[in-house]
Amino acid sequence: MNDLIKLYKSVISEEEGKLEEINKDYWRLGYHLMPPVGWLNDPNGLCEFKGLYHVFYQYAPTNADGGLKFWGHYTTKDFINWTKHDVAIYPDQVFDLHGVFSGSSFIEDGKMYCYYTGTVMREGYNDNYEVEGMEQNTILITSEDGFNFSDKKLILTNDNYPNMSWHVRDPKVWKENDNYYMVLGGRSEEGEGCILLYISKDKENWNYLNTIKTNERFGYMWECPNIFNINGNIVLITCPQGVPQDDVDIVNVHQCGYFVIEGDLTGQDYKFSNFIPLDRGFDMYAPQSFIDSKGRRILIGWLSISDTPFGYPTIKNGWNHCLSIPRELSFEDGRLIQKPLSELKDLRNEEFKFKVLDGKINKELFLDKYEMIIDFETSPSEVFINLRKDINISYLNNDKVLKLSFGRSGYGRNERKVNIENLENLRIFIDTSSIEIFINGGREVFSSRVFPNKEDKGINIFGRNLNAEGVVYSMKDFNYFRS
Ligand code: FRU
Repeated sequence: MNDLIKLYKSVISEEEGKLEEINKDYWRLGYHLMPPVGWLNDPNGLCEFKGLYHVFYQYAPTNADGGLKFWGHYTTKDFINWTKHDVAIYPDQVFDLHGVFSGSSFIEDGKMYCYYTGTVMREGYNDNYEVEGMEQNTILITSEDGFNFSDKKLILTNDNYPNMSWHVRDPKVWKENDNYYMVLGGRSEEGEGCILLYISKDKENWNYLNTIKTNERFGYMWECPNIFNINGNIVLITCPQGVPQDDVDIVNVHQCGYFVIEGDLTGQDYKFSNFIPLDRGFDMYAPQSFIDSKGRRILIGWLSISDTPFGYPTIKNGWNHCLSIPRELSFEDGRLIQKPLSELKDLRNEEFKFKVLDGKINKELFLDKYEMIIDFETSPSEVFINLRKDINISYLNNDKVLKLSFGRSGYGRNERKVNIENLENLRIFIDTSSIEIFINGGREVFSSRVFPNKEDKGINIFGRNLNAEGVVYSMKDFNYFRS
């Protein structure tokens, strides 16, 4: 262990000593992964390896408002019982000194290969995350057990990214036939968002293959690309920055969505679909997906958005942000479908069945962490759902718009919406400071942080031509263990 890692370890252990105090915050979530202390952003290196699911994440333990990034580390067998491990990757080399940024894991022959971006601020660096940027190196680190890592290997530097600005990062690796492929998100010299595609025969030596982008410029930078084949369809999930807002699909400060691509990505003969938002809420960014041993494509995202001007109210309590619940992806009618991972059913505690007849709910329920499922007999003319006194979901058949809105618990953020032709069902997950709404079997999703008071607990549903059946499950918390 080098001296820098020793120093980091002692600083982090001191910071994490504040955990007990921080856990007194009511907004600490019950069944969402959070940073033990300080700041969390993107999920990284998601994989299943030797019987455990590994969730690494961007972790800045010393500053709840962001700071030097490490890879934090959780593992689980069942998505309910989680073990918190020591930081997995530290910024301790000349090529990653100013941040171990996002990346992915690739598993082969009993070995975990983690690829990530190491950043270095050059002298005279001007703190402009948009254009100038930092040195962004692609680095490989491997592990036989998922906990102890090899020496780092520098595999690509900014000199290896043709016609690009300084912004090239977030490697994601996969294998196809006998080749390994890597995508990196970036900003070209001309200021276009794009991804770079590399090829390798041995996972260590990589050759540039192509720059993939839309015909028309779509923003200036694409972060966290993730390309995969799902039921024979090639999907590119990415987070474009700098796309002009349009009040319908492009509503957040940066975007999180996907393109379906046809054709050959190694040449020029490919075609992008329109950009489809992955989520309609205020908070979903940098999602990453992987395939597990059951063949499921599992996606987890960051419940926030980079550069959002929103001031999350937990910063003053020494921590900030969380990850989404895990979702299983499928593909139907040209779109990704997201369904909460089936393991989450094991978090269900008490069950309350209810009916809504002629627009009135027949039960009063007072809970703050729950899953609620509502099946509509036929698409209602109007439905208004009020949760925790301050969260409103409405659907009006006239304009076919489903809206999510917050009062004071939104801390200034008030409304997001989506067009829904027929409302068939809703599955809603509420935690102490989050909401995730899966509409019509996961065809549309809203994910958001929201900060109601502890006492705000009611569930109210009313409307017109509204007949529905539902069930509410109070939810258990995750169990946490220390490695
Ligand atoms: C996305 C992102 C990535 C980067 C990481 C740094 O949220 O900006 O592009 O690698 O966060 O924490």
